Amino acid sequence: REIHVPDIQQRSEAAQKLKIGIYFATWWALNVVFNIYNKKVLNAFPYPWLTSTLSLATGSLMMILSWATRIAEAPKTDFDFWKALAPVAIAHTIGHVAATVSMSKVAVSFTHIIKSAEPAFSVLVSRFLLGETFPVPVYLSLLPIIGGCALAAVTELNFNMIGFMGAMISNLAFVFRNIFSKRGMKGKSVSGMNYYACLSILSLLILTPFAIAVEGPKMWAAGWQKALVDIGPHFVWWVAAQSVFYHLYNQVSYMSLDEISPLTFSVGNTMKRISVIVSSIIIFHTPVQPINALGAAIAILGTFFYSQRERERERERAFL
Ligand code: 3PG
Repeated sequence: REIHVPDIQQRSEAAQKLKIGIYFATWWALNVVFNIYNKKVLNAFPYPWLTSTLSLATGSLMMILSWATRIAEAPKTDFDFWKALAPVAIAHTIGHVAATVSMSKVAVSFTHIIKSAEPAFSVLVSRFLLGETFPVPVYLSLLPIIGGCALAAVTELNFNMIGFMGAMISNLAFVFRNIFSKRGMKGKSVSGMNYYACLSILSLLILTPFAIAVEGPKMWAAGWQKALVDIGPHFVWWVAAQSVFYHLYNQVSYMSLDEISPLTFSVGNTMKRISVIVSSIIIFHTPVQPINALGAAIAILGTFFYSQRERERERERAFL
């Protein structure tokens, strides 16, 4: 039969949706596995500065090997590219290490409940530091996010200030990372996958001296011996799994960022947190009180409400 142009268009739209669906499902699944192994490692070996460094090192090594063996094409970069990447890498490093420190002190679910407030941080930074104004409904949609997180925090059974502050600092750092990377990626010729690879390499260079200063080889050696005795030789596989899955989930998320808007990305990120919160509560038998779960649910619903308002704002802008 004759093929009509609308048919072809519909099919390519469906194929695009399927592709994004596969990216999202892979991203969330990899993230759940990362979060579980990361917490198993931190429970046995509470040195988050080293584990964050190892995840960046593994990702960097995987990408350098892929470039060397031509599995992936190496990006063509110049000094300006690395200069624009530097603030992104500083923010990425702070956000990563702060989240890992948080998860070493509190339940994974609690870190991610607080991290679901990232959109609220994004609006507040844009408003107070960049002078951007938003319509009233956007500000109103922040109330359930902030209120829900506050409720979840005050009713958290194993509340810990470092754990809470780590997640808050991570939120702030990732907002800056997103602002800087939007500026740095303008007119870029580097793919999402290679952009994230370069980000890992630069972050690794930034983080290593700090990890040595804060924890250092002496602590690591003693902790490693203890973990091997407590867990057995397969502890090494847990460390490998958390490192490899950290790189893979971030790589897939940056690849999907090539295909979708930052707004769709942040909705995907919130849905990712729901899968992490639910699966980690089940796997680690995290005690949850009904009021605590209510706080988390309000915060997450607030994030969806916020993205709805932002979507409307984007549509209005498109019509102007
Ligand atoms: C990290 O270690 O960088 C955090 O777990 C990242 O959190 P996110 O990618 O879920 O925002």
